Amino acid sequence: MTPQKKLLNWYGLNQRDLPWRKTRDPYVIWLSEVILQQTRVQQGLPYFEKFLVKFPSVFLLANAKEDEILKLWQGLGYYSRARNMHHTAKIVLDEHKGQFPDSYNGLIQLKGIGPYTAAAIASFAYNEKVAVLDGNVFRVLSRLFCQFEPINTTSGKKVFTELAQTFLNLKEPALHNQAMMELGSLVCTPTNPNCGECPLVSTCLAYSLGQQKELPVKEKKLVVKSRFIAYFHFEVGEFLAIYQRPAGDIWQNLYDLPNLEMDEPKEIQFWKEDLEKKHWISKTDQLTFRFQRKHLLTHRRIFADFYHIKLSKRPKLNLNEIWIKKSELVKYGISRLFDHYVQNDTI
Ligand code: ADE
Repeated sequence: MTPQKKLLNWYGLNQRDLPWRKTRDPYVIWLSEVILQQTRVQQGLPYFEKFLVKFPSVFLLANAKEDEILKLWQGLGYYSRARNMHHTAKIVLDEHKGQFPDSYNGLIQLKGIGPYTAAAIASFAYNEKVAVLDGNVFRVLSRLFCQFEPINTTSGKKVFTELAQTFLNLKEPALHNQAMMELGSLVCTPTNPNCGECPLVSTCLAYSLGQQKELPVKEKKLVVKSRFIAYFHFEVGEFLAIYQRPAGDIWQNLYDLPNLEMDEPKEIQFWKEDLEKKHWISKTDQLTFRFQRKHLLTHRRIFADFYHIKLSKRPKLNLNEIWIKKSELVKYGISRLFDHYVQNDTI
């Protein structure tokens, strides 16, 4: 027996009784898929029922007041999805005479319908031979074929789209798609897959290699954090203050201008008062803003504001600062950001 046939047999015996599986109405299927993109089946069920009672057709949804839709959506979060749904309903009404397009290619043209939703509607409503790919299907396929390609990259998505289409049961595309999602929800679960119950275990490559728990692979997205740094160029005659950056932070051991950091950008007046409190300057000293520079590091986005302060005697900055002659700066290793300041004839 082919794995596709085994999957359908399993689905026949184990599927949950879900209301959107009893219809071929593209509007109802679309509604269910939008809700299920937002929440789990059990939490989604009451929303689905409420929406259908209030808006049984795309006509009624399109003509609803946005407030009414948002009220029904309340608790699901991510309200732009509800607004997009309203918008798409209006397009279906105005540009398609209230009829959803009857193919994947037609559906995907609609603003607000992406590849997943288009494939779900096309296969469930029209039995079109197009494979769906949601989180569950990615997981099942990655394990079945022991595919280590990341599922969240452009090239990975292409690999899985082809894999899903190759594995599709061309005789029963709608049932096959439902069954793949059901297998992912009930058996081939993220952390503890129940391989003992799986109808595809004998053909599962990851299972045969004991690697099912390592799949699917996701590429880690780099988290880029913003930092707001105010740099102070203290000028005393021909001297300026620099200090060596500590270990464990950006530019460790390089020399830098004295600086202060905040979680958010601050105006010049804030820094002036802060420097006065620290006794780095007195009330009569002038702080001059020079320029801002955005500087990108691998994990950081630095917004640097450079300020100039001309003083007649050297303050104690508590930064292990050293006072050097401007001409001596070339002897010190400095960051590219500081170097940018120097190159601007500011020193
Ligand atoms: N999750 C997303 N779409 C689904 C569907 N049609 N049935 C069950 N779970 C789903």
